[in-house]
Amino acid sequence: MEDKERGLAGAPGSVSKYVILGVTGSVAAFKSPLVVRAIKDSGIGVRVVMTEAAKQFVTPLSLELVSGNPVLWDSFQSPLSHIEIARDACALIAAPATLNTISKFSTGVADNLLTTLFMAFRGPVIIAPAMNWRMYDNPIFKDRLAYLKDKGIIEVTPERGALACGEEGVGRMASTQRIVHTLKRTLGANDMKGLKVIVTSGPTREYIDPVRFITNRSSGKMGRALARAACLRGAFVTLISGPSSVPPHDDVLDEIDDAEIIRVETSGEMEKAILEKSKEADIVVMAAAVCDFKPERFSQDKLSRSEGLTLELVKTADILGKISAHASKKTYLTGFAAETGDRKDRAREKLQKKGIDMIVFNDVTQEGAGFDSDTNIMTIITPTEELSIPKMSKDAGANRIFDKILLNIKGRN
Ligand SMILES: Cc1cc2nc3c(=O)[nH]c(=O)nc-3n(C[C@H](O)[C@H](O)[C@H](O)COP(=O)(O)O)c2cc1C
Repeated sequence: MEDKERGLAGAPGSVSKYVILGVTGSVAAFKSPLVVRAIKDSGIGVRVVMTEAAKQFVTPLSLELVSGNPVLWDSFQSPLSHIEIARDACALIAAPATLNTISKFSTGVADNLLTTLFMAFRGPVIIAPAMNWRMYDNPIFKDRLAYLKDKGIIEVTPERGALACGEEGVGRMASTQRIVHTLKRTLGANDMKGLKVIVTSGPTREYIDPVRFITNRSSGKMGRALARAACLRGAFVTLISGPSSVPPHDDVLDEIDDAEIIRVETSGEMEKAILEKSKEADIVVMAAAVCDFKPERFSQDKLSRSEGLTLELVKTADILGKISAHASKKTYLTGFAAETGDRKDRAREKLQKKGIDMIVFNDVTQEGAGFDSDTNIMTIITPTEELSIPKMSKDAGANRIFDKILLNIKGRN
């Protein structure tokens, strides 16, 4: 639903509701039905076009059943299909894309339905090469691929691993998730393209000795949602994450080349990472629940139970305050204030004291808000206004926050 709201089911204002999936003659074609299913699960329809060679690896019938649409491979099966299908599609994906088909794309050879469609299509094209590593590494092919990328064709780079020929190397088709995330990102609003965004996320750990630490209940879900939202809207995202309990698999951030994840443990490491990165950032969102206190002393050796323990705690560094002093004037700074109870007054005070542009308040005692929850209830507070975000998924809430940040940046320029 949220994807559709953001226009992921088609370019904004477009009636396109399907992508063309071109399946070519690679061993990886047996994965095509899974690609079809994953695209459909994102709310986007699929029209499959195969090459003759692809039919050796996967049957048109399987692809027809999974896509729910007739599968075409011959230009003369349905005359003018190369124009009609191309006209109404929102994207063309070739997955798997053979060396042969990619080379034809790059030279304008239109000798089958897929290559003819490619030449007739005016929307975004994504290719997921799959081939033996020697073929992928071939200098002639590299030139062809570089030429296509220069023309705006998006490559979902193949992965290293065991290949069907028994060799190992770079040539395995990208995972289904990577292909679908690339598609979503391509069809997304793209209103954050060119922006560098830093998001901090999760808790920190403050060590007492090598095996014990103090921490807090933050799961890192809100930070992940923010980083994911910015990434899907086209930003280059750096996620600085404390030890999060959110499983990292199947996430756009792990799949997209335009994102980096820096993993840290302590508040000191988080401070160092963000100070290093924030100078060039357009937007910094500090969603991490950095521990406010840490043990005054760290014991190099594991403390013995028999000796007893009294912990002396000291405040950790004020990272938000330091960033505010350190970041460039153009950087839009957002902090989070997690409180127990309706303490917006404390959030407003934090906003003012730290000299930041926005603070997002949430009362973690509310049902459907705070740690570990998949939803949140928030209030966006800036020096001049307050905006309530009712209970919604953290992904949707993250998009609301960026909508507001973009609006405020626009108003500032
Ligand atoms: C068993 C087998 C596996 C193949 N696997 C691949 C492959 O993974 N990638 C590739 O580029 N070509 C592969 N080929 C070669 C292509 O099938 C061949 O170049 C064919 O002409 C591709 O046609 P198409 O691009 O129209 O699908 C394979 C051939 C055979 C016989």
